[in-house]
Amino acid sequence: MISGRTKVCGVIGDPIEHTMSPVMHNAAFSKLGLDYVYLPFRVTAQELGKAVEGARALNIRGLNITIPHKVAILPFLDKLDPLAEKIGAINTIVNDGGVLIGYNTDATGFLQALLEQGIEPKGKKVAVLGAGGASRAISFILAERGAKLVILNRQPARAEELAQRIAQVFKREVKALALNEENLAGILAEAEILVNTTSLGMSPEVDKTPVPARLLKSSLVVFDIVYNPIKTRLLKEAELAGAKTINGLEMLVWQGALAFEKWTGQQAPLDLMKEVATEALGHED
Ligand SMILES: NC(=O)c1ccc[n+]([C@@H]2O[C@H](COP(=O)([O-])OP(=O)(O)OC[C@H]3O[C@@H](n4cnc5c(N)ncnc54)[C@H](OP(=O)(O)O)[C@@H]3O)[C@@H](O)[C@H]2O)c1
Repeated sequence: MISGRTKVCGVIGDPIEHTMSPVMHNAAFSKLGLDYVYLPFRVTAQELGKAVEGARALNIRGLNITIPHKVAILPFLDKLDPLAEKIGAINTIVNDGGVLIGYNTDATGFLQALLEQGIEPKGKKVAVLGAGGASRAISFILAERGAKLVILNRQPARAEELAQRIAQVFKREVKALALNEENLAGILAEAEILVNTTSLGMSPEVDKTPVPARLLKSSLVVFDIVYNPIKTRLLKEAELAGAKTINGLEMLVWQGALAFEKWTGQQAPLDLMKEVATEALGHED
């Protein structure tokens, strides 16, 4: 029940109708008996600064930030966690007594999902497909963890730009290539982990895949961060090739869980969050 003591969290984005976050967080608050509520807020780019000031004035405890505001919100915050500062994008705000601190739990959530499956990326050859917002968070944390990175993107200039930024920050070589069959064949012959951060294969275009099936092999770990559908064509074909697979729901739940823990100081009920998100996505798992 909402009372005078209820703490408010939420998510800011545009559009916001398809977010899974309210379902996951409200179920988690309720399970732990926490007096919190989580709401969706549709905020346009023009109103972003006012929305952040409003959140501060209303003493909102925490926010998630989603497309298209993950970079644009930075100037409105008081502090950034060091990793978020390096990435240059955030997805979580904690309001610590009027001080707004930005974090990137997309990055840490991705890493946790990998580690939870017993996969340590340190020293491994990792091919990251895509150079958009999600790739930025993932490529930075993989580089920080000590992975040997190659970034492949449809527009190679974007992969090059991201690789250069990471190389500058971590003083290590990061390769950038165009995302095409020839380059994939060369890279996947050696890669140990493949991460798809492109939107290829996402509903409604579920018959698309960024990697031809013949290039997949049993020694690869294939992580597709697309979570709708939960089992993409890439993951189905990777499974058939005998590869270990990790789906995007794992990352989605972990990024939410890590934000939850920052707002509440409590351990998030991961299994429940996964269960309600799976149900909301219209799957039986
Ligand atoms: N599991 C999670 O928690 C989680 C978190 C964040 C995002 N995601 C998912 O990750 C995906 C990407 O999100 P984002 O925020 O990074 O989006 P974004 O910034 O718009 O980046 C999209 C990426 O996909 C590539 N791409 C799009 N259409 C393509 C096509 N037809 N062929 C080849 N490449 C194509 C783009 O390449 P160009 O640069 O060449 O355009 C770019 O690299 C989405 O499906 C999103 O739902 C999942």
